[in-house]
Amino acid sequence: SKQQIGVVGMAVMGKNLALNIESRGYSVSIFNRSASRTEEAIAENPGKNLVPTYTIEEFVDSLETPRKIMLMVQAGAATDATIQSLLPHLDKGDILIDGGNTFFQDTIRRNEELANSGINFIGTGVSGGEEGALKGPAIMPGGQKEAYELVAPIFEQIAAKAEDGEPCVTYIGPNGAGHYVKMAHNGIEYGDMQLIAESYDLMSRLLGLSVDEMADIFKEWNEGELDSYLIEITADILTHKDDETGKPLVDVILDAAGNKGTGKWTSQSALDLGVPLPLITESVFARYISAMKEERVEASTKIKGLDVQPFEGDKKELVEKIREALYFSKIMSYAQGFAQLRIASEEYGWELNYGEIAKIFRAGCIIRAKFLQKITDAYANNPELKNLLLDEYFNEVTQKYQKSVREVVALAVQAGVPVPTFSSAIAYYDSYRSADLPANIIQAQRDYFGAHTYKRKDKEGIFHHDWYTK
Ligand code: 6PG
Repeated sequence: SKQQIGVVGMAVMGKNLALNIESRGYSVSIFNRSASRTEEAIAENPGKNLVPTYTIEEFVDSLETPRKIMLMVQAGAATDATIQSLLPHLDKGDILIDGGNTFFQDTIRRNEELANSGINFIGTGVSGGEEGALKGPAIMPGGQKEAYELVAPIFEQIAAKAEDGEPCVTYIGPNGAGHYVKMAHNGIEYGDMQLIAESYDLMSRLLGLSVDEMADIFKEWNEGELDSYLIEITADILTHKDDETGKPLVDVILDAAGNKGTGKWTSQSALDLGVPLPLITESVFARYISAMKEERVEASTKIKGLDVQPFEGDKKELVEKIREALYFSKIMSYAQGFAQLRIASEEYGWELNYGEIAKIFRAGCIIRAKFLQKITDAYANNPELKNLLLDEYFNEVTQKYQKSVREVVALAVQAGVPVPTFSSAIAYYDSYRSADLPANIIQAQRDYFGAHTYKRKDKEGIFHHDWYTK
C-alpha cells in the first residue's frame, strides 16, 4: 500500500518533522540524497511507520495521489535541484511543500514555474528549531489555497498548540506569503535576541550584577509582560557552568555571533519596500559588528571612552527600568515588523491577516510570547490598523514606559555601553509621533545641489528655488 506523505531530506529538521507526522498516525515515506541518512533514520526509530526509499522513482511511486511531498533540504540551489529531480515523476495536482528557510522571491518563482506544469507548490515557514519540528512547530504555509486545504489536516495535527488549544498554523496567502512571514518572524527573532543581549550588558556593565543574579532577574521577568521563550532560555542559559573552568558558560562563549541571512533579508526587503525597520536592522548590524572581534579588540586599546563614576543609584529600580525599556523596545520592533508585513501584503497582493499571524506565533516558534495575544487583540479591534502604536493598549503602555527607556538609553550613552536597539527604539517612537521632522532641510538641500525640487506645506505642487541668487 502507498504512504500518505513523503519527506525529502533527512537532516535533523526533516527527520524530526517526519517523526512528528508519523506520531500522529500517518505513514511516511522518507528519502535522502545520500542513503546513509535514510538508513540512520530508520535504524534510530525502530517500529515506526517510516518507509525508507532509495531512489526518487521509488520515493514518488510509494506515495498516494495526489502526492504530498515535504522538502526539508537546504534552501537555495539544493531545493531547486531536488525539485528538478522530482518533477519528471510527478503528476498534475501533486503538492510539493518546501519547509526550508527559503527566500520568498524563490518561492514566488517556483510557485509560478510549477503551476505551469500543474504542480502545486506550498512554501511554508517552519519555526521552532529541532525540538519544535519533532513536537510541534509553528507553521506558515503559502501557496495555492485549494492545495493547502488537502494538507491542512496533517499540518493542524503536527503544529504546536496554543494555550487555548488552537493549532499554530494558518493559511498565510498565495505564493511567497508563507516564507515572507517566516522571514519577518526571523527578523523579529534577531531584534528580540539583541534587545535581551543589551539588557544583559546593561545589568552587567552598568550595575555590575553577577551572572547568577541576572539569571534570577530574567526568570522573574519571564513571569510578567515579557513572558516568552527567548527570555526563558536566556534565564536558563545564565545558570549553566563551564565544565572545564567552572565559570558561567556565557563568560567563556566568544562574543561574536554568526547568522544564516534571514535577518538580513528582512532588512533588505524593508529597504526595497521603503518601510522603516530600524530596530531589526540594527540587530543585524549588531551581529556584524560582534563578528569583528579582532578589530574591536585592537580598537579597544586605542580608542577610549569617558571615565565615568560607577552607578550609585538604586540598583533594583534601574533593573525595573531596564525591564520597562525592554518591553517598550520590543513593542517598537513588532510595530515595525507588522507594518512591514502590511506594506509587503499590499505590494505582493497577499491579503495577509495580521491578527491570525500573531496568533500562530503564540506557541511553537522561537518568538513565542504571551504578549502576541495583545497583537491579535489589536487587529481584532481594527483589522486596518496602520501601526500597532496606534492601538490603545500599545499606545498606553509605551507612553507609560517611555520615561524608563529614555533614562536607560541616556545612562548607557554616558557610560559608553552600546545600546543600538534600545536607542533605535526610542528614536523610532519619537520620529513616528513627530508631526514635524527636519526633512524640510533635506528637501532644500536636494533642491539646492541637484535641482530635485521640493514640496510646500501651504500649497500643492512642485517647486524649485533659485538658490544661487539671493
Ligand atoms: C526558527 C529559527 C530558525 C533558525 C534560523 C535563523 O524559527 O526555528 O528562526 O529558523 O534559527 O536558522 O538563524 P540565524 O541566526 O542563523 O540566521
